[in-house]
Amino acid sequence: MCGIVGYIGKHKASSILLEGLKRLEYRGYDSAGLAVLQEGRIDLVKKVGRVENLIRESAKHSFPGHVGICHTRWATHGGVTDANAHPHLSSDGKIVLVHNGVIENYTSMKKFLLSKDYSFKSETDTEVLGNLIAYHYAKEAVSDKTNRFFESVRKALLHVEGTYGIAVMCVDQPEQLVAARKGSPLLLGMGDEEFILASDASALVSRTRNVVYLKDNELVQLTPTDFSISTIDQAEVSPVVDKITWSIKDAELNGYAHFMEKEIFEQPASLENAMRGRFSEDGSTAQFGGLNLTAADLRMIDRYVFCSCGTAWHACLVAEHLIERFARLPVEVDYASEFRYRNAPLDRDVLFFVVSQSGETIDTLAALREAKRKGYKVMAICNVVGSTIARESDGGVYQHAGPEIGVASTKAFTSQLMLVAMYALYVARMRDMSFNDGLSYVQGLKQAPDLVRKILEQAPHIKEIASRYSQYSDFLFLGRLSLFPIALEGALKLKEISYIHAEGYPAAEMKHGPIALVNELCPSVFFVPKGEIFNKIVSSMQEIKARKGKIIAIVTEGCELPPDLADDIIRIPDCHEAVLPILGCIPVQLLSYYIAVKRGCDVDKPRNLAKSVTVE
Ligand code: F6R
Repeated sequence: MCGIVGYIGKHKASSILLEGLKRLEYRGYDSAGLAVLQEGRIDLVKKVGRVENLIRESAKHSFPGHVGICHTRWATHGGVTDANAHPHLSSDGKIVLVHNGVIENYTSMKKFLLSKDYSFKSETDTEVLGNLIAYHYAKEAVSDKTNRFFESVRKALLHVEGTYGIAVMCVDQPEQLVAARKGSPLLLGMGDEEFILASDASALVSRTRNVVYLKDNELVQLTPTDFSISTIDQAEVSPVVDKITWSIKDAELNGYAHFMEKEIFEQPASLENAMRGRFSEDGSTAQFGGLNLTAADLRMIDRYVFCSCGTAWHACLVAEHLIERFARLPVEVDYASEFRYRNAPLDRDVLFFVVSQSGETIDTLAALREAKRKGYKVMAICNVVGSTIARESDGGVYQHAGPEIGVASTKAFTSQLMLVAMYALYVARMRDMSFNDGLSYVQGLKQAPDLVRKILEQAPHIKEIASRYSQYSDFLFLGRLSLFPIALEGALKLKEISYIHAEGYPAAEMKHGPIALVNELCPSVFFVPKGEIFNKIVSSMQEIKARKGKIIAIVTEGCELPPDLADDIIRIPDCHEAVLPILGCIPVQLLSYYIAVKRGCDVDKPRNLAKSVTVE
């Protein structure tokens, strides 16, 4: 949420900053702004709306400077106005900054600063921090003038309660850029005689793949040729330089109309990537290098708790189903935001899992910290390498799904489904699953990419269905067992990108309430897999049909539905049970995508949303 880019180096800063900001737009798109430092002055432009507006506005100025910062905003404090857009300038004109996060104690700081004659043009917490830095800068009486600016940032941050990723400039220090983080991600990219700061790698990967992931409570002081990192308590930090493994091409549309479409079609590859190198030599189980737990450790685990948010929470529900079904171990699933505050009583031999595409979701991170504080080991399933959750967990598994830019998660979700299916197998094989059952489970998983390809080939058919359903205002998504979480996911996808009201429900539970919504104006999407509950689901469909509800049925190939029961049918291939949620998900992703496009919605940037929710 909110994207920050900072630049210091030998090139003109503005074009590099704006290019980076465009790539970060998926983190928030309420307003955007740019500030460049130039010979004792700060050139500043900010505009409500998309980065495109800012680019147009910036074209009217020359911005010759080589040091600058910019920001794309997802509003927290204060409405969506030019005045509330970042960067924010201190009222004495000395300090300018961009900020991602929330300063919780900004009201008391503001009161103090007002008493010291600082004034405010915006309603933001960020402007308060800028003025606090200016206050310390004004009163800083250190002899070493070059450290005066850095020290003023550090001292101001000592007073901050809340979260921040900031990049700050000072009009008197045209050769310096200072940044800091606590709770909001910030990376330092090391290019060719230049440094780029960014909230995530997509903003800097076109210029360098060498990055330092700043940790909480660290500050970095940059000049055009050098950098140093220290903690807020003034301890020196030896930087660890990591290499980004993907290239800028992975973060581009490459001919697709939207990132969401591209990412849906990338799923065969992302599923392959999730599996690569993760099966045992005898082909009967999965293996994970990063768990940091031995088989003996895992034998001691009696229960699992899975925590996360949104789409990733649906992956946890699938984990619950598969681990309980195949490994016969109880699993509890909690919303991260609820777990954190409800002080859940936990057994002794519990292994905790968090699942997060971004690895930065603040609620999930807080749940991880709470579990660790209680003395539990926490494993993470994450996509973004080097993310805070990946770093703070005791072990885990990277998804290797590549950058996910579309705000609505697609390929990251199915890759999470693959990993939880593999984990269920891994634990099941340590317990009661036979060698032969393990072999066929692995074979089943390995077929998933091809089976997904087969469903993707039906995209034109699903698009045609979508065009006939795009004008409805309410939908039900109904599924059972491992497809109940996919019903929730289908409903979430549809509502977030097309703004159609949709509810996911267990198919049989529908008659205990939601059936009241059903009429000819409320279609239902049913998951109808082959197996013991086939006939039960058909009965639920009959109940909807009897009330004139239209039905889109997602049915296993070879299963025959009673004639005229479904208005539209999408076929999915027969598959191993562990792969079913992955296959079930593809038609609803495509359906939501095509409905949203037909309605003219901005699929990659749905209203009010942003990727990577770094505020509570
Ligand atoms: C929905 C979506 C969100 C995220 C949620 C958690 O399409 O993307 O619901 O799943 O915000 O995000 P991560 O996985 O980054 O923790």
